[in-house]
Amino acid sequence: MKQIQFQLQQTNTLSDYDTLILPVFEQGNTTELGQQFHLETLTADLVKAGDFSGKPAEVQMLLQHPDSPCTRLLLVGMGSAKTLSNKNYLDSLNAAAKALDNSGAQRVLNGLIDVFPAQNDQAWAIYQNTLMIQRSLYDYEHESRNKAELKNPKLAQITFNVAASEALKSQLEQAQATALGMALTQDLANMPSNFCTPSYLAETAVELGDQYGFDVNILDSEEMIEMGMGAFMAVAQGSHTPPKMICLAYHGADPTEAPIALVGKGVTFDTGGISIKPGDAMDEMKYDMGGAATVLGVFKALGQLKPKLNVVAVIPATENMPAGNAIKPGDVVTSLSGQTIEILNTDAEGRLILCDALTYAQQTYKPCKIIDMATLTGACIIALGHEMSALLGNHQPLIADLLSSGLRTYDRFWQMPLSEEYDEQLKSNFANMANIGGRPAGTITAAQFLARFTESVHWAHLDIAGTAWISGKSKGATGRPVPALVDYLLRQQ
Ligand code: BES
Ligand code: MN
Ligand code: ZN
Repeated sequence: MKQIQFQLQQTNTLSDYDTLILPVFEQGNTTELGQQFHLETLTADLVKAGDFSGKPAEVQMLLQHPDSPCTRLLLVGMGSAKTLSNKNYLDSLNAAAKALDNSGAQRVLNGLIDVFPAQNDQAWAIYQNTLMIQRSLYDYEHESRNKAELKNPKLAQITFNVAASEALKSQLEQAQATALGMALTQDLANMPSNFCTPSYLAETAVELGDQYGFDVNILDSEEMIEMGMGAFMAVAQGSHTPPKMICLAYHGADPTEAPIALVGKGVTFDTGGISIKPGDAMDEMKYDMGGAATVLGVFKALGQLKPKLNVVAVIPATENMPAGNAIKPGDVVTSLSGQTIEILNTDAEGRLILCDALTYAQQTYKPCKIIDMATLTGACIIALGHEMSALLGNHQPLIADLLSSGLRTYDRFWQMPLSEEYDEQLKSNFANMANIGGRPAGTITAAQFLARFTESVHWAHLDIAGTAWISGKSKGATGRPVPALVDYLLRQQ
């Protein structure tokens, strides 16, 4: 992904820019920046004449207009200043980014940061503008695909008309590192499972380690069988592709400080196993490593930003295949924690690999907090759709911090309950627990299962089944929830 240069610079002249982006409200009024360049008559006239409405997400590019102080004037509707919502603002910003991509703009003065929804501030607007404009250049790149040309290869520089400060500069840096991390997450998740294998994820971790100085440790089947990861190995046994447990450590603080652990589900393809899935849209199960891809994307951002904290990653990576030697419904396995599990449905494989990863992370790294992320349940999509990831956990302050980073980055989470009554659904006649809890509250019973492996640590679980990718015409990975997690981690310094 081409990197745009973003900068903060107060200016009274437009001689350095070929494009000015200006917000316009429904009545045709504009901001101080617009008035500074005597554009209020132009914008009001356009609205009066019916050529521009000022509604959110409406854009108009004026080229070489006699009243415009530079070659391009991009007007962006913002609706009404009083009722401007996050959604409206971000829709407008998205439309502006698209208009830049469809133009020849090269050096841009972006006036959209002078407007923001009432509950936010200019720092927020700078973060969102940087993230959205940089993200608009993302395109999945792989040898198996024709290389798409950039629509506007000239776009090079975006300036925000504001005095530089450390606080505002850190917003630019956070947004750019987030965009880079998301691009890695998307590339990995978009990559078909014949390329993106557990070994490929492991190689990606090794490369990140070389680039940014992370410690990387990859566990193979023999070691994991030896250690007693019976749940993870049960899922992996039906696949010819070797499984990997991928561990990374980032040291940004004193080594005595307990790290935050991130655990990501890395099922590089989920057929369902012997409890095989229906064929419809089964291709989308290549994204079942969205949690793993998120963890690697977050580590990419950490490498760029180098915050003062310690973070470790544990990624269980495997395929879930039907085979002569695959696990069968009714099989009982012993997890690394010693608890036994009756596998009633081989398609509930995510929790089986995660439970061993959660135990391993606690035993190996003694973390102060664990956050796991997984495309874990179809039920989550039914409950929350594609807007919010489900958030569950055993420590309310941790959950509150995650909720707040989700809201700020607009990579949102919604809390669901955990409660011991749901444990009834996991009862097994033949083991300590079953791996499924029936149809009711599927997202909660999955988390309730994981809770049995995280009792002695502050833990949060993100079900990203609905948010990590979109189906339909623009099918693909979204890069979520990298933005919220990067924001959360930066606040833990
Ligand atoms: N990877 C799936 C969850 C999923 C389904 C993610 C659809 C995205 C879209 C997971 O491994 C799974 O198959 N879950 C089952 C659990 C059930 C058998 C208890 C599900 O949700 O149907
Ligand atoms: Mn499954
Ligand atoms: Zn799965």
